Amino acid sequence: MNPPQSDVMKVDLHAISDEDNLGFIACMTIDRPDKLNALNDEVLASLKAVCDWMEATDDVRVLVVTGASPNAPPEGKRAKPHAFVAGADITEFAGAGSQVIRERFKNNAVEALWNLSKPTIAMVDGFALGGGCEVACSCDIRIASDRSTFGTPEINLGLIPGYGATQRLERLVGYGKAHEMIMTGDMVPADEAQRIGLVNHVVTPEELESTVMAMARRIGSKSSLALRVGKATVRAALDEGLTDGVEIEAIAFAGLFDSEDKEIGVQAFMNRETAVWKHR
Ligand code: COA
Repeated sequence: MNPPQSDVMKVDLHAISDEDNLGFIACMTIDRPDKLNALNDEVLASLKAVCDWMEATDDVRVLVVTGASPNAPPEGKRAKPHAFVAGADITEFAGAGSQVIRERFKNNAVEALWNLSKPTIAMVDGFALGGGCEVACSCDIRIASDRSTFGTPEINLGLIPGYGATQRLERLVGYGKAHEMIMTGDMVPADEAQRIGLVNHVVTPEELESTVMAMARRIGSKSSLALRVGKATVRAALDEGLTDGVEIEAIAFAGLFDSEDKEIGVQAFMNRETAVWKHR
């Protein structure tokens, strides 16, 4: 069950509960703090490897995605700022043409994160810009510290977002706000990000990790089968019309009635017990 690690990616495992064998939460830290955790090819390959590993590893139930904190600066130098991810690595864009970029962005790691069947939480402390905002938007839930800032500044490079923000950010914040962010490139502070629906919760930096891990533990203690079906069904709301989406929900809901976990959950409620899921 060893997670993939690399020079630019650390993965720590946290037990969901001390008492039961409920499995683990994987906390994936993008680790290039000197470059504000910018997404270069190495980071993207590592992100893809972690997603593949998550999908193949039953005992790991929830993925938390975060960025490394800044290193202490050399004496006399100004510290670098806190960042979740400050975007795609801009230096890799220099001189690149459309063919190179189409190849690099096809079946990319951010899509692998988006398509993960397990719950994902972005733990954002600092800049979440460009591809960083898009990595956050590709998670199911976003929790940010109050010193975080979101934005899609690609317009300032003569570009538009390339990791799905025109679609996923739009679904989160709506047509008008997505246009404003993409057209101005302006940064959105955490409290505003929460107000417009981009972020679920905003807490102090000191509270961030405990808040995220408490939510990850709560989610990780549910039936993994019901979580997987629920995630796929909510996703249908993005791709299907309302009538088809409701039909997909009806089929998924009824399908769970044949699962052992539904009987375990209902019996546990009626007997005032804690459910011990078959699908942990
Ligand atoms: N790609 C590559 N390197 C990046 C980067 C990115 N997206 N974002 C930051 N960095 C690097 C800087 O070049 C700098 O490297 P250096 O110290 O070796 O020169 C280091 O990270 C620290 O960034 P710096 O710009 O010095 O910090 P700051 O506090 O002055 O500014 C930002 C912070 C986030 C406002 C600024 O770094 C920025 O605008 N980054 C680009 C954001 C962006 O356009 N993202 C979308 C890319 S498609």
